[in-house]
Amino acid sequence: MKIHRLEEIDSTNTYIKNIKSPSNYEMAIAKVQTAGRGRRGNTWKSMEGAALFSFALKEDRYLPIEEYRKLPLLVGVAVLRALKKILDMEYKFKWTNDIYATQKKISGILVEKVDDFFVIGIGINVNNSGFGELSHKATSLRELSGEELDREGVALKVVDEFKRVYIEFLQGGWQEILLEINSNNFLKDREVEVDIRTRVDKGIARNIAFDGTLEVEIEGIIKNYDIGEVHISYEKIK
Ligand code: BTN
Repeated sequence: MKIHRLEEIDSTNTYIKNIKSPSNYEMAIAKVQTAGRGRRGNTWKSMEGAALFSFALKEDRYLPIEEYRKLPLLVGVAVLRALKKILDMEYKFKWTNDIYATQKKISGILVEKVDDFFVIGIGINVNNSGFGELSHKATSLRELSGEELDREGVALKVVDEFKRVYIEFLQGGWQEILLEINSNNFLKDREVEVDIRTRVDKGIARNIAFDGTLEVEIEGIIKNYDIGEVHISYEKIK
């Protein structure tokens, strides 16, 4: 597996995107990102000490493109499994792209498509701490364990877990993977606001459905969402 170790870069996702024809799992990891990107054009505050990395995944011609909508969820499972092995505690997956520990965000995922490959970008708060005004919202492995960890070691464990879960997926294991996601579903039974740009729907988040969409109960009726951002407005209500 080819690894580009970078001192400073705008964004590891952009770096991999700019490689003409990357090999499968070709990876970039940076100490510093000057223009880290999140979803919906947001910037990702890249603190030194975080594991900031991206890798390429070649599109499988035999897999229908709709199946790739599940990719962020597969990456989420890989991060959950890797973190659990590194520091054994409870982690939750917040649909569609975040990982939480102790009700605080510890990791974010950004999946992008270029030509015939995907760029899977992951930021994990590893040794960074002191989140300032975000301290009620963010945490890191160091804050949780009191120990410094090797950033690249953490990143490689995630890639390793991704390879495993991706094979499980290709071999028809989605139902089991989905059960795992739903048993760590951060949004389950929380009151949420779903911003779908043209309007904001309010309801109670339920399970993640077989097609990867989020079920939200609105006045007793389940609606499925596959776009937009979910905002939590209240703490767990059930
Ligand atoms: C989000 O929370 O919106 C997703 C954040 C993803 C951040 C990672 S850091 C490594 C990679 N490079 C980027 O520019 N973004 C991803």
